[in-house]
Amino acid sequence: MPQRPEPVLLANVGKPDSWTLRVYEQTGGYQALRKAVKEMTPVQVIDVVKASGLRGRGGAGFPTGLKWTFLPKDHPGPIYMCINADESEPGTFNNRILMEDDPHQVIEGIILSCYATRATTAYLYLRYEYPLCWDRLQAAIDECYAKNYLGKNILGSDFSLDIFLHRGAAAYICGEETGLIESLEGKRAWPRIKPPFPAVEGAFRKPTVVNNIETVACVKHIVGRGADWFKSMGVPPDPTNPRDAGSYGPKLYCLSGHVNRPGCYEAPLGITCRELIDEFGGGVWKGRKGKAAIPGGISMGLLAEQEFDTPLDFNALGKVGCMGLGTAAVVVMDESTSMVDFLYNSCRFFQHESCGQCTPCREGTAWSLRMLERIRHGNGRLRDLDLLLEIGDTIGIIPGTTICGLADGAAWPIKNAIRKFREEFENYIKNTNPTGYMVTEPVPALVQLAAH
Ligand SMILES: Cc1cc2nc3c(=O)[nH]c(=O)nc-3n(C[C@H](O)[C@H](O)[C@H](O)COP(=O)(O)O)c2cc1C
Ligand code: SF4
Repeated sequence: MPQRPEPVLLANVGKPDSWTLRVYEQTGGYQALRKAVKEMTPVQVIDVVKASGLRGRGGAGFPTGLKWTFLPKDHPGPIYMCINADESEPGTFNNRILMEDDPHQVIEGIILSCYATRATTAYLYLRYEYPLCWDRLQAAIDECYAKNYLGKNILGSDFSLDIFLHRGAAAYICGEETGLIESLEGKRAWPRIKPPFPAVEGAFRKPTVVNNIETVACVKHIVGRGADWFKSMGVPPDPTNPRDAGSYGPKLYCLSGHVNRPGCYEAPLGITCRELIDEFGGGVWKGRKGKAAIPGGISMGLLAEQEFDTPLDFNALGKVGCMGLGTAAVVVMDESTSMVDFLYNSCRFFQHESCGQCTPCREGTAWSLRMLERIRHGNGRLRDLDLLLEIGDTIGIIPGTTICGLADGAAWPIKNAIRKFREEFENYIKNTNPTGYMVTEPVPALVQLAAH
């Protein structure tokens, strides 16, 4: 078994009172902030984050330093920072652990990110269902104001910052960055058409950066330990993919489902799905074999068991037909799991969460759910599988038919489940609808019409 580096992001998790300023400072807390405001300019902080190769941990994997440079130069301000703690992707819980057990690590990362981008106000948009995070974050923010890590002229510098907690509106779509901004402004969380991107026109129509909790936690360590430390872990860019910027640094993987030891584990980017399951999760439970795994939240699609040796990084998952790494939430399914049930649950989730603005997403998620209901109830037809694939191939930002990525997230489980497990779907339909699996029944109204 390879030697894994000591956890850094989870280093304080599990220590008594790990959420207090006292414990955080005992382990070098806020030293990176002192270093930055005393020795570094904002541009130097951006440069070190760029040099580290940090890519956003919220799902899209966009390079963080590059995103920060999209803010307009010499803008009179204010510039806003929105911290995305909506964490609603099924199977994902690493942000919650960071906020509950080490809120100061998150806050130091936010302060450094605001220093770099010259943001003077940060809104932390917190998932509604996370009350303990709220309490611990608010207590930590209060401690920071008392120590002048927040407020006016932080540590004697000319940099001032306020952080406000904002309770989310309890819907998956609130995590999409422009849905989040709309919700923060007090409106329904309907994603905005882009451009303009938030960096140009975001919260309250001002330049805004949206970053994930784990992303800013990484910023704290990059400033403290340097870009080379961060780049010493992970996977370099794929020479065969000119769009791959590499996958560097430690990553928090959420492992759940049919494993012996579910949990949140820190490992360098690029660990394979099988290594994660076996080394960290203690293998598939009950002595069974694995059948499939969601590689990074349900939006990313499905890995079949024979693909478990795929590295969980930003590039490799695309090569086996998945959308990407997403939130690195791995949900394992054992050999007894029905793929029909899996896909039914997935379709039910996305149909419920679609905000309804775009016809392909609103209708596509609803129709795919109806078809899965029909299949599960023994009325499926083989041609339903091709209809489902047609929906999967035509909804989303990637085919260019919707405003936001929720529809791509709905499409990928459909495409992967049917293409990778087609035989199981066909057998299910043939067995549960032996006489009608090839037949297209006319709708009841037409039958009655024909009788008269
Ligand atoms: C439907 C949908 C839901 C999303 N939910 C989240 C979320 O809960 N948390 C998050 O950080 N990013 C989420 N994202 C991604 C954000 O839009 C955005 O890319 C991210 O917050 C940027 O931060 P990062 O660059 O640090 O990753 C979601 C995207 C979509 C399309
Ligand atoms: S893709 Fe779906 S969730 Fe996103 S804006 Fe359109 S309808 Fe709403």
